Amino acid sequence: MCNAEPDLSTDALGLQERKDMVNQHVKSLSPKVAGPPKADNAIRLDKGELPYPPSRHVIEAIASAARTLNRYPDILGGELRGALANYTKAKPEQIIIGNGSDDLIELIVKTFVQPGEEVLLPVPTFFVYWHSTELINARPVFVQRTADFGLDVEALLQKVTPQTKVLFIANPNNPTANLVARETIIQILDFSDRPRADRLDCMVVVDECYYEICQETVADLVDKYPHLIVLRSFSKSFGLAGLRVGYAIANEVIVDYLYRAAQLFPVSKLALVGAIAALEEISYVEANLDQIRQERGKLGKALQQLGFIIYPSATNFLFVRTEPLGITSKDLVGALQEKNIFVADFGGKPGLDEYYFRTAVGTRTENQRLLDGLQEAIAARKIDRS
Ligand SMILES: Cc1ncc(COP(=O)(O)O)c(C=O)c1O
Repeated sequence: MCNAEPDLSTDALGLQERKDMVNQHVKSLSPKVAGPPKADNAIRLDKGELPYPPSRHVIEAIASAARTLNRYPDILGGELRGALANYTKAKPEQIIIGNGSDDLIELIVKTFVQPGEEVLLPVPTFFVYWHSTELINARPVFVQRTADFGLDVEALLQKVTPQTKVLFIANPNNPTANLVARETIIQILDFSDRPRADRLDCMVVVDECYYEICQETVADLVDKYPHLIVLRSFSKSFGLAGLRVGYAIANEVIVDYLYRAAQLFPVSKLALVGAIAALEEISYVEANLDQIRQERGKLGKALQQLGFIIYPSATNFLFVRTEPLGITSKDLVGALQEKNIFVADFGGKPGLDEYYFRTAVGTRTENQRLLDGLQEAIAARKIDRS
C-alpha cells in the first residue's frame, strides 16, 4: 500500500481534456454559490419567501405520505392535477405540474426554442428566464421596461424577429413588484393575428407566481389564445418554497407537448401530497396573506420615511431605490449582512443601475429589525462622510 498523497492536479487527472468536452455555452454560465451558512437568528428577507411555517394539515399529510416512499409518485401529478383543475377552473388536461415553476420555465424553453433562437425578456425581470435560455444555447433578447417598470409594447414589437419563440412576462414582476394591466397582456396576445410585419407570433408566458397575493390573472384566456401559458407556484402565497411545486395552465395540446418533454417523475410524492393538503386549507393561506398585505403597507411607509423610494407592490416583497440617500445598494446590502440581515441586491442587474434592492415582507419583528439595521447603516454612512 502506498501512503503518498494522490496527485489531484488538473493535468495529472486528465481533467483538462474533460473540461474541454463541456459544451461551450455551459462553460459560460455562472457557477452557483451557496454563500456562508446563515445563523439561526438571521433575518432572511432575500429570497422572497413567506415568513410563516406550513400549516399542521400540510405537515401531517406529508408525514403520512412518507410511509409510501418506496413507490414512485403518480405520473402527470395524480390527484393534484384534479385538485388544481378545481382550484383554477381549468380542465385537468390544461394543467401541467412541475418541480417549482423554475422547472416549467426550463421545460417551456426546451419545448419551444432551438439553439440560436430568441427569447424576449422585458427587463428588469426574473433571472431564470435568461438562465434557461442560455442553458440551451439560445439568445435572451432584453427589452428595457418603461421608467415605472411597465411594458414598453412598441419597443417589444421592434425586437421581434422570425427567431423570436417565447416572450416571458412576470405579472407581477420580480424584482419590481408591479402589475401589467390585463388589457396590455390582451393587446400583446392579439398581436399574433396581425399582418406579418407587425406580428408577435410566439408563445406568451404570463408568470403569475404571486397570483394569490394580487388576485390578477389571465388564466381564463387559455381557451381563446393557444399561445398563452400561465405559470403559478406554491412557493410564495402558499409559503411552500422548500416543497418545490409549480404548475402551468395552457391549451390542452400545448400541455400534452410540454408533458412529452418533461421527466416522468419531476415532482416528489411528498410535494404532490403537500400541495393537495395546502389547497384543502385555503383559509390558512388567506389569513397569512392578509397579514403580509398589512405588514407590506407599514414597511413601505417606514422605508419611505427613511428616505428610500418604494415602488407599488402587488407581491410579498418591496422593491427599494436607494439613490436618494446616495448609497449604492451593494454598500447597503453589505452593511445589513454584517448585522445578520439579508436582502437581495439588484444593483447593476439587467435593466437597472446601482441603486436597487428587494426585501421580502417578513413578520413585524423581522421588518423592525430590517428598519433598525437600515437606520444604523445610514447613520454610520453619514458619520463616515463627515
Ligand atoms: C416571477 C417568478 N417566477 C418564478 C419563480 C420561481 O418559483 P418556484 O419557487 O415555483 O420555482 C419566482 C421566484 O422568485 C418568481 O419570482
